[in-house]
Amino acid sequence: MVLNGPNLNLLGSREPGIYGAHTLADVEGLCRDACARHGFALDFRQSNHEGVLLDALHEAGAAQAAGMLAGVVLNAGAYTHTSVALHDAIKGASVRVIELHISNVHAREPFRHHSFIAPAAQGVIAGLGVQGYALAIAALADHGNRNGN
Ligand code: DQA
Repeated sequence: MVLNGPNLNLLGSREPGIYGAHTLADVEGLCRDACARHGFALDFRQSNHEGVLLDALHEAGAAQAAGMLAGVVLNAGAYTHTSVALHDAIKGASVRVIELHISNVHAREPFRHHSFIAPAAQGVIAGLGVQGYALAIAALADHGNRNGN
């Protein structure tokens, strides 16, 4: 599952100097190609609503437990820096998450330096542009290969 949070529906027109010219549809296509390379089916989602993201993480945890899901690539957008609830959902649902940011949040405003997701995530990719999504999908595949799931 690739799960995108608030304002990521605006990719392409949103601050292109920071996020680039790719639209969310472009990102979905890139993720679909990366998933095909690794034999994954893609479940690609975006929501501007925290509760919808929580429900998706709960659903992902159940699917992972059933052996139907390798994990979640999560770009939680600004909720990364504010949401204890997302942190709790990742832990509570025992779901494998790779935190993803298109921009290098550590080179930006101080309020973007703290992540509530990172302590609950398997790893973090930031600042590599939209290609970071493909790298995160490769990391989920690599984890599955090493752990037999
Ligand atoms: C972002 C970085 C966040 O700080 C920001 O609020 C976003 C996008 C990124 O992909 O670089 O919405 O997660």
